[in-house]
Amino acid sequence: MADPLLRIEALHSGYGDAAVLHGIDLAIEEGSAVALLGRNGAGKSTLLKTILNAGPRVTGGRITLDGRDMGPLAPDARARAGLMLVPEDRRIFPHITVAENIALGAHAARPGVKPMTMDEIWALFPALVPFAARAGYALSGGQQQMVAVARGVIARPRLLLLDEPVEGLAPVIVDQMAGEIRRLHRDHGLTVLVTEQNLSFARAVTDQVHLIDSGQLVYSGSWHEFDADPTLKARYLAV
Ligand SMILES: Nc1ncnc2c1ncn2[C@@H]1O[C@H](COP(=O)(O)OP(=O)(O)OP(=O)(O)O)[C@@H](O)[C@H]1O
Ligand SMILES: [Mg+2]
Repeated sequence: MADPLLRIEALHSGYGDAAVLHGIDLAIEEGSAVALLGRNGAGKSTLLKTILNAGPRVTGGRITLDGRDMGPLAPDARARAGLMLVPEDRRIFPHITVAENIALGAHAARPGVKPMTMDEIWALFPALVPFAARAGYALSGGQQQMVAVARGVIARPRLLLLDEPVEGLAPVIVDQMAGEIRRLHRDHGLTVLVTEQNLSFARAVTDQVHLIDSGQLVYSGSWHEFDADPTLKARYLAV
């Protein structure tokens, strides 16, 4: 059988002496859109950061992308292998423009892969066009998040990791963001892993659900299967 795009095996990681992830096994197929749900402190961000090698300390297990062991690679090398994280805090630079913030993502392009042009970016994110020359500090939370996603895709990653992309955003912006992510996935074949607490957003943009609790994966299934067992929500998600 072909390798999944990303395979995580028996992954243990944490911070200093504090263990957070306790043996995570997860495979993400190319072209899929997957949600990782769990309550505050469950380990969602730690898993995404561990995939990028951006902070947590790995104490066991393996992460492979297309069968290639990511173990020895630093964060920038993982980005150039095709892994891109849009972090919870978005990291928009306040004193450069929207266009400049987005263009910063292009350095992560894989060898032999041309990053998108700005025209391609504007076609994907038409809502950003009127703000192209605006400074980062002058953006709303929703605009910042869209800039962060645009910066995340400009290098044409193999896998886009989105950490709670709609946290704190107004419902109308959440809907707009769902439309953008869905389009990137359905029309452009982008593989996405999204962590969320917002169930309706996660449902709108993904096909599969994984639940994480206290650093362990406790459930994997389709949304249909997830909905058929209402105890999951009560047990593993803050509702
Ligand atoms: N930099 C850090 N140093 C030490 N412990 C940390 C650090 N970051 C997170 N933790 C701890 O690791 C555990 C998992 O946190 P993590 O941020 O991965 O959870 P999460 O599922 O993303 O939660 P949230 O929904 O609040 O974003 C928590 O107990 C948290 O306190
Ligand atoms: Mg988090």
